[in-house]
Amino acid sequence: MNASLPAPPEPSMSALLPTLSPTSLLPIELVRGAGAQLFDSADKAYWDFYGGHAVALLGQGHPAWVAAITEQAQTLSFVTTVAPLTVRDDAARALADFGRMDRVFFVNSGAEANEAALKVARKATGREVIVAMESGFHGRTMACLGVTQSGRYRSQHSPVHGTVRFVPYGDLDALAAALDDTVAGVLIEPMQGIAGVIEPPAGFLAGARTLCDEHGATLIFDEVQTGVGRTGLPFAWHAEPTSQPDLVTCGKSLGAGFPVAALLLTEAMSATTSPGEHGTTFGAAPLACAAVSAVLQTVARDDLLAGALRIGEAIASFAPGGAHAIPGVSAVRGRGCLLGVVLDRPAKPVVAALREHGIIAGTANDPHCLRLAPPAILPAEALTDLHAALRACLD
Ligand SMILES: Cc1ncc(COP(=O)(O)O)c(C=O)c1O
Repeated sequence: MNASLPAPPEPSMSALLPTLSPTSLLPIELVRGAGAQLFDSADKAYWDFYGGHAVALLGQGHPAWVAAITEQAQTLSFVTTVAPLTVRDDAARALADFGRMDRVFFVNSGAEANEAALKVARKATGREVIVAMESGFHGRTMACLGVTQSGRYRSQHSPVHGTVRFVPYGDLDALAAALDDTVAGVLIEPMQGIAGVIEPPAGFLAGARTLCDEHGATLIFDEVQTGVGRTGLPFAWHAEPTSQPDLVTCGKSLGAGFPVAALLLTEAMSATTSPGEHGTTFGAAPLACAAVSAVLQTVARDDLLAGALRIGEAIASFAPGGAHAIPGVSAVRGRGCLLGVVLDRPAKPVVAALREHGIIAGTANDPHCLRLAPPAILPAEALTDLHAALRACLD
């Protein structure tokens, strides 16, 4: 044996690429879940106020979701997109109607959906420049890094892709100044998620629509985090109906745990694409489409938009002046099941303390923001427990 070979790894050493710092890794092992609860290896229960990065809209093991995926797996597990499929057509129709758009292109992740949106915008306009928002987040592929301003994500991969102009989020004057006849598209999160659940001023989305029309640019909403009912509306842009976008992306809640994302297009945008231009092996797979239909049907049948709004209103009451104000909470931002609880201190130690009280919560790029993205099926008992735990942790 060659003495210079490195020693074999310890048998217990993980083979995973260590993409997270040790302080970001949960110090518990989650082994099962039921509804809005997660359980660790010692069978301690936690209310899930984070939804696995805003994914688990229906919680864990929702019977309708499990039944749809199981039935599809038993009927037809996989065929490619060259095979016409009713389950795919049904999911696309349901999603287009729900999102008030015309056409759907299914992919596997939010970043891929944004990649597709950028491709369509560039081809449709014959232009290259994208205007994106400061502190936005759009994913980690090369094109998505190009439109994501935060140095935290892009600095190690420069030069990043594309010609991009960044403007302050919510600033219509700055957006107007950035637009000219070289701009292919304006990319906006209707509510910035990872930044710290930040809403734009009223009229910003509709104003962006008007400016895009004036300059012949496409309006793209990234609703990967906000879409599919999470904010108590089908899509967050529906709060400003005159902001009708050309392109919308979604993911996360769309499959509620099954990996699927989508680009939604207007008929006019769809007409600019040609056969063969977009494609993916796993996108629009039967199982993914079954999951999408189950999510949309469950949101409608169980009135989860109203459910999400009730959860958001309950947590908003923790803010100063609210019926259940908590000392140490400076503000509550967001709506429905996407909330930023702004603290008078750094959020990270509070997240760790909340875990001791049986609450899983998240952080954001705003260090004082506790980011909450619970399932829309969260019971009232969980909100009472969150209130008590937050009071105790901030005391
Ligand atoms: C607004 C937004 N866009 C895009 C993405 C990227 O999605 P994915 O991680 O599925 O590629 C995310 C992920 O957090 C997001 O929040």
